[in-house]
Amino acid sequence: MQKQLNVIAREKDFLALKEYIKATKDNQGVLMQTLHKAQQIFGYLPIEVQKFISYELDIPLAEVYGVATFYTQFSIDPKGKHKIGVCLGTACYVKGSQLVLDKLSKELNIKVGGTTEDNLFTLEATRCLGCCGLAPVMMIDDEVYGKLDPKKIPEILSKYME
Ligand code: FES
Repeated sequence: MQKQLNVIAREKDFLALKEYIKATKDNQGVLMQTLHKAQQIFGYLPIEVQKFISYELDIPLAEVYGVATFYTQFSIDPKGKHKIGVCLGTACYVKGSQLVLDKLSKELNIKVGGTTEDNLFTLEATRCLGCCGLAPVMMIDDEVYGKLDPKKIPEILSKYME
């Protein structure tokens, strides 16, 4: 279920976005620029922010939603503090990265693409991360973990839970 954005608590962020829109309203490609800025400010593009952009730019909500969901650089779901990317490239896959992904999914109780209730982790599957010699590989934020064994997952996750 999509979490609702606390609009009142984010009032300052909406004001910052409004200022940005005021300054850039007449630029070409203003919708893309505004969505980028909004994602920078809010971390993602919840429906409340899309409605705000639609109103401020006088662009139909369907169009805003269409662009926000079409491009992979935008996310309409909140992201966790730590992003986990498990490589499902060929070298990692044959070395069992699917088992690593399944273990993470079980430990965190989320599906691929999901974010934990406490917003601590987002779990994603990625393409080759360019370090196939370490297969199976995952990244947590900027840290690379190689030669993974699913049994090591709880210990690795615990480092990020402190
Ligand atoms: S296939 Fe996983 S790092 Fe290359």
